[in-house]
Amino acid sequence: MLGGDFPVLIEEDQIQKRVQQLALRISQDYQGNDLHVVGVLRGAYQFTQDLSTKMALPHTLDYISVASYGQGMTSSESLQLRMDISKPVAGKDVLLVDDIVDTGITLNWLVDYLKRRRARTIRTCCFLDKPARRRAAVPTDYIGFPISDVFVIGYGLDYQEKYRELPFISCLSPQEVLI
Ligand code: IMP
Ligand code: MG
Repeated sequence: MLGGDFPVLIEEDQIQKRVQQLALRISQDYQGNDLHVVGVLRGAYQFTQDLSTKMALPHTLDYISVASYGQGMTSSESLQLRMDISKPVAGKDVLLVDDIVDTGITLNWLVDYLKRRRARTIRTCCFLDKPARRRAAVPTDYIGFPISDVFVIGYGLDYQEKYRELPFISCLSPQEVLI
């Protein structure tokens, strides 16, 4: 399927620098508050860990996972909780951390879910943003990199559950994608 080397769209160095900047901004913005980070599995596992490690602010950390029944590379509107948060978020200042906001359907669903669980405030932090494909209005408070409409892999992002382990962002060319 993938032949040869992976083309590098965003280098590991660039990623770590940007994550450091985001961590600093978030640490400043939440100074004096009890920050509760909720990472979205599985895509945001690398980003959540790097962001959390680089923050200069004590915070609590939890994870959530949702399943989308979309086919191939598109997101479906029917989402289901795959793994719930382990601690209540009621009254907490939650930062929802995801790998990418594409149509916005997933993030929108998660924000709504955490609102119903009575989080005090909810902000979102997404490593990548594909604004061209947005279908659901969703607040994007912190963004790593805006990207154009290409299917990307690496740094947690998968294609059919593979390539999450790459420490950089790469892409699949249309010929390499089996739809
Ligand atoms: P949305 O609901 O359309 O915003 O999509 C969110 C989810 O779709 C992300 O959390 C990813 O898991 C997946 N996704 C969207 N675009 C890409 C991509 O380019 N590469 C890998 N996964 C993607
Ligand atoms: Mg995914």
